[in-house]
Amino acid sequence: MGLEAELEAETEAARAYEALLVPALFGEWASKVADAAALRPGHRVLDVACGTGVLSREARARVGPRGSVTGLDPGRGMLGVAAELDPEVRWQAGWAEELPFEDAAFDRVVSQFGLMFFREPARALREMLRVVEPEGRVTLAVWDAIEQLPAYAASAAILDELAGAEAADCVRAPFALGDAARVRGMIEEAGGHVVAQETPVGEARFPSV
Ligand SMILES: C[S@@+](CC[C@H](N)C(=O)[O-])C[C@H]1O[C@@H](n2cnc3c(N)ncnc32)[C@H](O)[C@@H]1O
Repeated sequence: MGLEAELEAETEAARAYEALLVPALFGEWASKVADAAALRPGHRVLDVACGTGVLSREARARVGPRGSVTGLDPGRGMLGVAAELDPEVRWQAGWAEELPFEDAAFDRVVSQFGLMFFREPARALREMLRVVEPEGRVTLAVWDAIEQLPAYAASAAILDELAGAEAADCVRAPFALGDAARVRGMIEEAGGHVVAQETPVGEARFPSV
């Protein structure tokens, strides 16, 4: 596949992500994460692993014209769709493990449903703490353990039986950071101080077929 065709395929995948998965799974969390981050007018916000930007858009509405929002993601298709939806956010290609920003460049760093997919989550946490103001805040959302989500646990069990552990592990992967004590330990090891940790309940809503 040529480079142009590759980008086209990535853009199509990102459009499908925005049309189907954002309303079904991610949309409702943007306001919850923004509330937990206590975003205020004038804040400089970084959204790590922004995808198509649902949380960045929420952040921009809250920080207003005096503030600024930067959305970072390695996915070119994701960033392209994000830029179509909100040209006012600064969309930045990059990896969480090597944030292309100065120390203390942001008042708030937010990230929803990305950390469990990073190759080096500990390094990414150190980077997020580096680029936030010493008095700032990093707010992260990860999924709970798969055992708390019966539909996914059942899917993984069926795949285990019919297709083997490798296929089932793909279903389990998003829930890899579902152990709150482990996540707290990772943050503290990275130099952070956990001020609050909670497990709110959301609802996945897929359209009927
Ligand atoms: C499940 S999506 C979540 C996207 C977005 N936060 C949302 O709520 O819709 C996970 C995102 O993590 C990004 N990602 C994966 N590895 C990453 C890394 N090492 N650094 C930054 N982003 C990464 C992917 O490109 C993808 O957009």
